[in-house]
Parts: sequence; structure tokens; C-alpha cells
Amino acid sequence: MNDKGFFLTLEGPDGCGKSTQARLLGEYLDEAGCQVLLTREPGGTPLAEEIRRVILTPSRESLDPMTEILLYVAARAQHVKGLILPALASGKVVICERFIDSSLAYQGYGLGWDLELIENLNRMAVGDLSPDLTLLFDQDTEECRKRVQGRAQNKGADRIEARDPAFHQKVREGFLKLAFNNPRFKVISGAGRDIESIQRELRSVLKTRIPKLACLNGTDSNIP
Ligand code: TMP
Repeated sequence: MNDKGFFLTLEGPDGCGKSTQARLLGEYLDEAGCQVLLTREPGGTPLAEEIRRVILTPSRESLDPMTEILLYVAARAQHVKGLILPALASGKVVICERFIDSSLAYQGYGLGWDLELIENLNRMAVGDLSPDLTLLFDQDTEECRKRVQGRAQNKGADRIEARDPAFHQKVREGFLKLAFNNPRFKVISGAGRDIESIQRELRSVLKTRIPKLACLNGTDSNIP
């Protein structure tokens, strides 16, 4: 448990709807009087965002799988030291889209790399920092694919989104394996639900899972 702040991560396959929910949660916590940092991986600091661009922008040269793992880890080291740890030390609620679980799901379960190797590389980069709570957005792979395709009509799919459906299915199953019997996780099913109903569930999860947050005390009436 992080001593002062609260480290909340949102995970899930591409197109699972976590960015919208992260933004709405940020607004909710902000209105409740919490100091909030909304951030994402890969990225979050200018340098880590540069690394994001290198990883995700499709190029003629294919991205070697070990290079891919190391770039995610490098971006994470930069992000954790430059942004996340200082924010937690000052008592903020850090809402981070994706963290080490994404490396385990995508590079581990998706690409087939050894989970222990990924875990060890990440520990070298960020020490023992771990989320206090992880919200895993689970959604049918086909539904996610449609959502990604809708977005990609404007900007084109990125390097990871463009991988085949079998890869994304392995990622989804990998996330569920990581969450199984792990009290750090709360699995949120997106099946047939609208944004508002999911947001209501998230808010009540937060109320029960982070009672130590003074800013959330006495805000029951704000939960629709
Ligand atoms: P985003 O578009 O949800 O921000 O995520 C960027 C992509 O990077 C997404 O396809 C998941 C992938 N990813 C990994 O493969 N490994 C990681 O460690 C992280 C953080 C993201």
C-alpha cells in the first residue's frame, strides 16, 4: 500500500473503453476534493511520450520483440521516477492507464515472452511500486476490435492495434489470468453496458476500496 497517495491503474485490451472511464473518474475525484494526476503508459512525461511514439507508430522496419519489451520498460522507468513517485509522495490519487500488467498481458501472454523475465525487468526499472487497486475492463474481443476500427478510420491503427485477433484474444485471456484470485484487481465487465452504468460501478468500487482517502469521505450523496 502506498503510504500517502493512492495508485490506481486501469487495464484492459485495446478498445475496452478505459480512457473514457479514466477521465470521468478523474473528474469525480477532483470534484470530491482529491488531488488527482491522470496519466498513461507508455507515456506520461515528454520523454516517455517520445518513446510511446517510437513504439506505436507503424514503420517499415519491424519492431524486434525484445526491443519492444525494453522500450515499454524504459518509458515506465522514466514515468515512475519523473511523475508517479513524486505525485504519490505528495498525497495525490494517481490514475494511470496501463502499467506492468499490460506488459505481462501483451508481451507475456500475447507475444509469448516469459512472465518472470518481464516481471524482473520491470522490477529493475521501478522497484517495488505496485498499484493499490487495478480496474480491469473486460470486453468481448470482437466488440473491442469494432471500437478500435471506428477510431482508426480517422488516424489509422497503431502498431499494436494492427495485430491479428488471435493476439488480442490472448491478451484478453492473459489479463483475466492475472486478475484471477488476485485481490488487487477488480474486473469490470463491459458486456452490453453503457458508459454511465460502468462509471457508477467504478465510483462505488472506489468508495469501498479506498476508504483511507479523506477526500472521498462523506461524498455518498455524489454517487448517482
Ligand atoms: P493505449 O493506446 O491504451 O494507451 O496503449 C498503448 C498500446 O500499448 C496498447 O496497444 C497496449 C500496448 N502496451 C503494451 O503492449 N505493453 C505495455 O507495457 C503497455 C503499457 C502498453
